[in-house]
Amino acid sequence: MPKIHDVLLSEYGAASSIPSPVNRLMTDFAIGFRDGRDINLGVGYVNERTIPHRTIQLACEQVLSNPQKYRAALNYGGAQGSPNLIASLRRFYIENRIGGITEQTLNGHDIVIGANGATSLLESITHVLPTGIALTADPMYYIYCNDLERKGFEVIAIPEDSEGLDTQRLKSKLAALDDEKAAIRFFYVVTVNNPTCTILSNNRKRELVDIVTQLSYEVGRKIPLFFDNAYSDLVHDGTVEPLVSALRYDELGIVYEVGTLSKILAPGLRIGYLIGTKGLLLDSIIQRTSDIGFSAPLINQEIASYLLDHGIEAQIEKVNNGYQQKAKQVKTWMVELLGDNIEECRGGSAGFYFYLTLANVATGSASDFFKFLTRTTGQETIDGPADCQHPKVIYIPGEHCVHPNGDMVEVGKRQLRISYGFEELPQIHTALKLMKSAIAYSADISKNSRSV
Ligand SMILES: Cc1ncc(COP(=O)(O)O)c(C=O)c1O
Repeated sequence: MPKIHDVLLSEYGAASSIPSPVNRLMTDFAIGFRDGRDINLGVGYVNERTIPHRTIQLACEQVLSNPQKYRAALNYGGAQGSPNLIASLRRFYIENRIGGITEQTLNGHDIVIGANGATSLLESITHVLPTGIALTADPMYYIYCNDLERKGFEVIAIPEDSEGLDTQRLKSKLAALDDEKAAIRFFYVVTVNNPTCTILSNNRKRELVDIVTQLSYEVGRKIPLFFDNAYSDLVHDGTVEPLVSALRYDELGIVYEVGTLSKILAPGLRIGYLIGTKGLLLDSIIQRTSDIGFSAPLINQEIASYLLDHGIEAQIEKVNNGYQQKAKQVKTWMVELLGDNIEECRGGSAGFYFYLTLANVATGSASDFFKFLTRTTGQETIDGPADCQHPKVIYIPGEHCVHPNGDMVEVGKRQLRISYGFEELPQIHTALKLMKSAIAYSADISKNSRSV
């Protein structure tokens, strides 16, 4: 037989043929997952109980029985998105003054609906902007940053503090970039960060808009600043100052806000949207959406429009009450069980993640802590018998959340993201007790290895 090479892939194809470390981790865990026994604090899934199943069913019936308003809901939709949904989103923002947005704020702006959630809009950005430098906060939204790097972007991650991306450090970084600033393509900032759930303060947001405005003038071209608001409707701590939309601070027309209905309604609807100044960038995103199969399934868009017009405010309140209670309880248990070992704890006011820095305990996938929790120590006393292993717990190690070339690599080795979204409280309690044991186990191992 003549020799034949395998399929010739593009650089992106070749990079994508290897699953990302987090994908590998989650797939390995999902393969042997035992319902009712293993505990998944790793996934970013929303809590099933926050999804209004019955109301969605009702909305579907209403849409299909009202073809005058919801025209041809089971047919193809347009590339920009359903006019009903776009009108409902406008109403939702303006009537509820979300982020202080008024009719005037949205003048000259448009809303476009993604093909498949906010994710598809973020992905579209990677196609319509040339490769170059993308700046974000560290820890970073690893899913998107991994995509950016496979597409050939250079991601520069600036550490965040308790108010979000540290603008002093950003200024120093920009100064150090010098002529390379010309290679900056865009900024991507998650307003309630994933993985940390740190809320970007309004001051920081304004400062960021100012910095990127100045930078745009300096390089002589508008540099887009994308704010990802995936969790901004999930601020459940009443003491937090109301978040102001960055559109309110934008004079140059460089701010774009990405939103999603995944966290307040249902990820399965796959409704994400982008709000920004009308013009080249939005036009190119709309064309890109058309290229990949049009905006989200029209039936889903119409259902979402109906839900936004009928009781979305009460739904958001219900979702937030649920997460607020969970956050408080989980925080209490964390202090009780892991207290002395927690050096820093972020999150608890918004979204559904806590991001912990442990004192002296490594959390990476080669660590004893991780091996204890995933029952891969190789010791039967810890892992349990091969045919009936003890309960396993998965979380996202900090090593995957911090940028590998950034300033947080060392501390990232002692960090972890835990989600209180998907699992219910009793399971989370069990998981935290197991984490306490895992800390004791890893302390024992390192004591023994020192004494050898
Ligand atoms: C920061 C961030 N952006 C976007 C998304 C995805 O949103 P969607 O479900 O609309 O694709 C997520 C999902 O977890 C997220 O954490």
